[in-house]
Amino acid sequence: MKDLGFNPGAHSGGETPVPIPNTAVKPSSAEDTALATEWENRSVPGLKISLGEWRRQKASPFQINSFWHKKEACMPFEIDKSIEEAWTLPAQVYTDPQLYQHLLERVFLTSWQFVADTDSVRIPGTVFPFTLLEGSLEEPLLLTRDMHDQLHCLSNVCTHRGNLVVETPGNERYLRCRYHGRRFGLDGKFQHMPEFEGVCGFPSEKDNLPEVPFGVWGKFIFASLKPMCPFEAFIAPMQERVGWLPLHEFRYDPARSRDYLVRANWALYCDNYLEGFHIPFVHPSLNEALDYGSYRTELFRYSSLQVGIAKGGEDCFELPPDSPDYGQAIAAYYFWLFPNLMFNFYPWGLSINVVKPLGVDLTRVSFLSYVWRAERLHSGAGAELDRVEREDEAVVEATQRGVRSRLYDRGRYSPTREQGVHHFHRLLAEHLP
Ligand code: FES
Ligand SMILES: [Fe+2]
Repeated sequence: MKDLGFNPGAHSGGETPVPIPNTAVKPSSAEDTALATEWENRSVPGLKISLGEWRRQKASPFQINSFWHKKEACMPFEIDKSIEEAWTLPAQVYTDPQLYQHLLERVFLTSWQFVADTDSVRIPGTVFPFTLLEGSLEEPLLLTRDMHDQLHCLSNVCTHRGNLVVETPGNERYLRCRYHGRRFGLDGKFQHMPEFEGVCGFPSEKDNLPEVPFGVWGKFIFASLKPMCPFEAFIAPMQERVGWLPLHEFRYDPARSRDYLVRANWALYCDNYLEGFHIPFVHPSLNEALDYGSYRTELFRYSSLQVGIAKGGEDCFELPPDSPDYGQAIAAYYFWLFPNLMFNFYPWGLSINVVKPLGVDLTRVSFLSYVWRAERLHSGAGAELDRVEREDEAVVEATQRGVRSRLYDRGRYSPTREQGVHHFHRLLAEHLP
């Protein structure tokens, strides 16, 4: 263990080492003075730290791990595969701006993202520009349906000098960049450019709009800039479990869709989603609809499923005989797709949640409602989604304030209730330094 200026032999109960005060260091700025005062004012019996020690931790956040826990318990970013042995993610994953950027590049760039439904590109000639993960990746992309009824997902950036090719949805016979008139087919292939006679090696493949990998499940379109796995493998667990639903009959309902701004890290929001452990504590109304004792989690390579069983008399799916859950009163299937997509199936339809990072401690969560059986909207586990979301937001925002604490770093998992969180953290750890 590194010499961090405290007595490793001193303990305040349990195994948490208690630092002993160093010689006080004179504060050098108003900010330091305020922080030092804040620190000194904390009433933590038997626990004190000098300003100098605090500064060293601030300058080297990675040391905080080994400071508060036994070294072997907190190797940075290793999540033991045994949930009984494992410690949760180090707190700085939720608070460190550099790690936040790293995860955007390593996790989000390679992820499959839900981008639109096929109703947005129903007719040949339709062009549908969108931004992949606005607020973080900010990648301008374009869906088109060509005259042969083929869907395409393309870069929306002109291969000349980078103008956006399509700015609004519409119906077109070809794509024309309005900056200098470069023209592309609806399949993204270069067609024409004025004033380019004599340009060597022109046009070439590089003058086509780059194609972006995409996949369609039911009516839902996903895209990935650099897929970490084939789309079929990514979507297979959901297809196998709820592929029997008539997804093409689900209709997007803008009146029941909205965005929530959450003052917390995106991964903290996902952590909360991935366990039903908190339901009896945080969601009294949802707890009335679900049988907590039979709530269960199933894990897949890049996704997980939480199955909510209805309490007696509450609304549930009429499952087909070939469903693996046939005979059970399923109130909700909560599918989570790594890293940030939630597909929540209820007897009334589907609520998609897209968790969009905006900053290290700011997240936008888009709730998109697809209604199948409107008459069932007000019953069962999917009845009060807005209330449940606000309850979740409050606890996630409080947790964000908590993980910033100098006194918190990592916790342990419940082996029976937090398998989904452990699985998520293991996936993140695969992508962390
Ligand atoms: S940037 Fe598109 S034609 Fe020049
Ligand atoms: Fe919740």
